[in-house]
Order: sequence, then C-alpha cells, then structure tokens
Amino acid sequence: MGSIAPSLAELDASAVKVTRSTNLRDVPLPGSAEELSHSYCTDHMVTARWTATNGWEAPEVRPFENLSIPPTASCLHYATECFEGMKVYRGYDGKLRLFRPDCNGERLVNSAKRSSLPGFRYEELKRLIAKLMQIDGPRWLPKDQPGRFLYLRPAMIGSGPHLGVQKPKEALLFVIAVPWPDPAKKQTDQPGVPYGLKLYASQPDTIRAWPGGFGYAKLGANYGPSLVAHSQAQELGFDQVLWLFGEDRQVTEAGASNFFIVWENKESGKLELVTPTLENQLILPGVTRRSVLELARTRLSQAVGKLAPVDVVEKQFTIDDIQQAWKEGRIVEAFVCGTAYFVTPIRLIRNGDVDMNMQEAGAERAGYSTQIKSWLEAIMFGMKGEESHEWGYVIDNETEQ
Ligand code: PLP
Ligand code: COI
Repeated sequence: MGSIAPSLAELDASAVKVTRSTNLRDVPLPGSAEELSHSYCTDHMVTARWTATNGWEAPEVRPFENLSIPPTASCLHYATECFEGMKVYRGYDGKLRLFRPDCNGERLVNSAKRSSLPGFRYEELKRLIAKLMQIDGPRWLPKDQPGRFLYLRPAMIGSGPHLGVQKPKEALLFVIAVPWPDPAKKQTDQPGVPYGLKLYASQPDTIRAWPGGFGYAKLGANYGPSLVAHSQAQELGFDQVLWLFGEDRQVTEAGASNFFIVWENKESGKLELVTPTLENQLILPGVTRRSVLELARTRLSQAVGKLAPVDVVEKQFTIDDIQQAWKEGRIVEAFVCGTAYFVTPIRLIRNGDVDMNMQEAGAERAGYSTQIKSWLEAIMFGMKGEESHEWGYVIDNETEQ
C-alpha cells in the first residue's frame, strides 16, 4: 500500500489572525516629507508564511514592523522576489475601493511562478487587503476626505535559510500600505509649458528585457538592473527611460509604466491609439494598460466631445516610426499609464540627438489621455454613475481603532 502524500494547505484569507497595534503612528499630511519619502507605512501589515512541507500557514494582519530573515535567505542571493503595485481609494460616496484587484492577484501568482515561489488562489489577495484596510482605512483615508488613496505593495520573497542553489523551501507573502504623492499634483517645472513627462530613449547597450526572459513578470530582478540607466536619464533632466528592444529598436515600455501614442496611421490616414503588443512577453501586462484599451475600445469607437473616434491597436512599432510620424506632424499625443504614475501625458522624447515634442502638432486634436484618465478616476473613486462599476471592489465593514 502506498502512502498518500499530505496535501499542502491553501492560502486562506478567512483564517486570518488579527493583532491590533497599540502604538498608532501619526498619519502624514498630503504633500508632507513623510508622504514624499515613499517609505512611511500604515499601522498594520499582512504576512503569510509558506513552507514546502505544509503549504500556507494562517495569514496575519499585525502591527507594522521590520521583517526578520536569515542572511542566507534565498531572496537576498538569488532574487527570488516578486511584487505588485495597487492602490486603495477613498470614494466620493465614502466607500473604500480596490481597482480590479483580481488582475493584480493573478499577475502576482504568474510572477511567483516565474521565480520559483509558491502560488495561491489569487482571490485571497484581495480578501487579505480588504482585512488590512478595514483596520487601517478609517484613520489613513478618512471618510470626509474623498479623492485620497494609499499605495499598496503586496510582495513575496524566498525567505528560507538554504544557501544552496535551489527552489525556495520557505516563502513570505506580505502587504504593506504607503501614503503616496498624487502624480496629478506635480506641476510643470517651466511656466507656460503644459505638464508632461520627458522620456529618454534607451541606448542599444542597455536592454530591460529579452525574449525568453521575464519582462512580463513583476520581479524585483527587472528593476534593480534598470536603475543605472534610470538615474543617468534623471541626471540629464528626464523623468523615465523609454525602453527600446532589438536591432530595429522596438518601443516597449517607459520606466515603470506602459506606453501609448495617438497618431495618424501613415497608410490609412486613420487616427489610432497604439500600444506595444504583449505577444513577445517583453513588457509588463499592466492593469491600467488593459483598462485603457478596454475603455478606449468601448467608448472611443465614436466621437466623444471634440475627440474623434480612434482605432485601438496593439502592435509592434519602433522609435523610427515615432520619429517619422513626428517629422510628418502625425502625432496627436502620447502618454504613459500605470498604478503609480496613473495616466500621465508625455511632453518630450529624446532619441539620440533628436528631441521630439509630443504636444505640438496635434495639440488641437489632443485630449484622449485626459478623457481616459477621468473615466478611470470615476470608477476608482466611485463617482456619480460609476459607483457600481464591476472594476471597483468595495471594502465594507471598516472598523474604527
Ligand atoms: N510596466 C512596468 C515595468 C511597471 O512597473 C508597471 C507598474 O506596475 C507598469 C508597466 C504598469 O502596470 P500597472 O498598470 O499594472 O500598474
Ligand atoms: C506601480 O505602478 O505600481 C509600480 O510598480 C511602479 C513602482 C515600481 C513605483
């Protein structure tokens, strides 16, 4: 008779153990140094431990504190780490909402798989975050201050003590919540010049991702090695690197955000909203990217106010295509999108010694990013008419401290 292998425990948010902090932190004001530091966390955090022998232990919501891991921990040596970026929004109807949290849960599971970390039923992530926000929400996002949000950082690390090169036998999932500056509050640094990011096209000697690699997964290992190019771009006065790939210098993504351009198609003369395809797995499948595409496909197939209808296209294109369109005055606008940067217009792209102004030729026809941003905002903050949109996940049962 063979023995039956014991089944590993699933991650189960309903088994969560809650320990409340008795030492509450001051809540920073919007625009304060604490908020700008991107490092000041709320009173509590979620943790859940996994072992290869037993699976997931009961998760906890517990007072925020530093983690303790052995110096031999897998994540410190072999980059067994993945993460997510989400926000929790205080709605104009007083409710707390997450935006499409199952998309983040599913992506975290995919990223975990790519770095040999354990999976879980992705719906459990939103339930754990809801538990955390039922406790921290009322004080950190007061009901009488609609329009505010916190940045949420779910992450998983290989935490076991085995220095031998192998799949981690222990892992830790955690979620922290961080007050975050509002990207919309950033004003232009030049009076009279409309706000927009300046992107620096990457040089052929540095690439972010490659076919067969892991550009599509949200692994810390994608970010650390990109910071040299990022800081060089910043020293030159740019906000983000526009990452290019391959001999033909295909456009991929912009720093920690996805890239969109609205232009007139050279052949058809039709107006297109274009973003790089996910097909070759070079770029992160952004939740905001997906939402922009879905909204544009349903709401911009006909004119909206002064905005003409657009074809919505996911395809490969190169920096030369952008440069040609710019020379020919075919660019209407360009923007980036992502959780942290939300939807932000691009002012300028530098490619070698060519500076391309994205807000020049098509200015009169522009306004797509502003329109899309306001549609998304309405869903995230439960504004009139969008209170029950299926992308908003309402967190009920908030409990005062
Ligand atoms: N691309 C990269 C490399 C990112 O880090 C992010 C941010 O998460 C995005 C794109 C946008 O993804 P999302 O819209 O899911 O935040
Ligand atoms: C996000 O938009 O959530 C990101 O991951 C960006 C972050 C690396 C600051």
